[in-house]
Amino acid sequence: MGSQGSHLALALSLLLLACAPQASSDAVRCPEPVTATVPTNDPFAVVRLYLEANAAGDLDAAALLVTDESVVFESGGDEGSWSHYREHHLGPEVAMFAEFDIRSGDPQVSLSTDRSLASVTLPIEYDIELKDGREIESRGTVTFVLRYEGTQYLIEHIHWSSRPRAAPRPPQVAAEVATYKAAKEVFAKHCGGCHARGGAQWSEKAAAHFDMSSYPFGGHHAAEIDQEVLRSLGQSGRGATMPKSAPGSLSPDEMALIASWARAFAVAKDAGFHGEASHGDKGHGHK
Ligand code: HEC
Repeated sequence: MGSQGSHLALALSLLLLACAPQASSDAVRCPEPVTATVPTNDPFAVVRLYLEANAAGDLDAAALLVTDESVVFESGGDEGSWSHYREHHLGPEVAMFAEFDIRSGDPQVSLSTDRSLASVTLPIEYDIELKDGREIESRGTVTFVLRYEGTQYLIEHIHWSSRPRAAPRPPQVAAEVATYKAAKEVFAKHCGGCHARGGAQWSEKAAAHFDMSSYPFGGHHAAEIDQEVLRSLGQSGRGATMPKSAPGSLSPDEMALIASWARAFAVAKDAGFHGEASHGDKGHGHK
């Protein structure tokens, strides 16, 4: 897991900063440096070692940096003790990793007055390649609480909060989403009552054709929904059938907003972003 020497250098440079006296009369006493193989007298060094052990899949090494009473939260879930977390979550997960690359930003380290407690909060980004070839790219923030246990800091709480990094939207999809946002009110006002789950007249039947409950729209013809909507609004030669309660009741301005969404949808579809949607599929490419 990397070179021990550089960790030590890092730990020492951090110690110099962290242990500078705040006032001349009030020297801050640092825990005595230990001559262990790991520079565990600095809370951030312990955190770094913990992350590196994770990245290396060496959970035995990680376990040495965690107290028996440690508690882990991960993205809204209480994972129980670290050993429970290791057994039920981390272990199985790490076993599926082909590669685990963690990068961390600047840590925020704070120490209690007697230095027995430390918290380290740091932004992280990580890329995981699974053995089956899938890739996961996430970012988040992790908070560690550490306690000085006689000779070294040990982690007693981890709150790991992260989520997938959204890939930037391709321009065609971005344009479609923008026109959808502009037309959203019109859709909600004239169509949502029947086609969006929770609408006053929502029905499975209406939603089976055109489901506005989330975007991209779902329904039988999700991949053709631009054409379906235009047709239902009387834009293809035949009379309007929608809104079912009052066909053809949209104002020209409202119609223009929907038409411009439909054009942008068609462009995104031509670029392949709605191509493979099958029956009941909600379309794809907007994650
Ligand atoms: C009062 C309820 C209601 C409203 C409001 C409504 N729909 Fe529908 N819609 C339905 C129902 C029910 C169906 C299922 C087919 C049917 O019964 O005609 C449907 C079917 C559809 C279909 C499938 C093709 C078709 O014409 O049957 C499309 C597309 C559609 N609606 C679009 C819209 C759009 C766009 C709006 C808003 C401008 C809208 N609907 C407003 C009830 C509604």
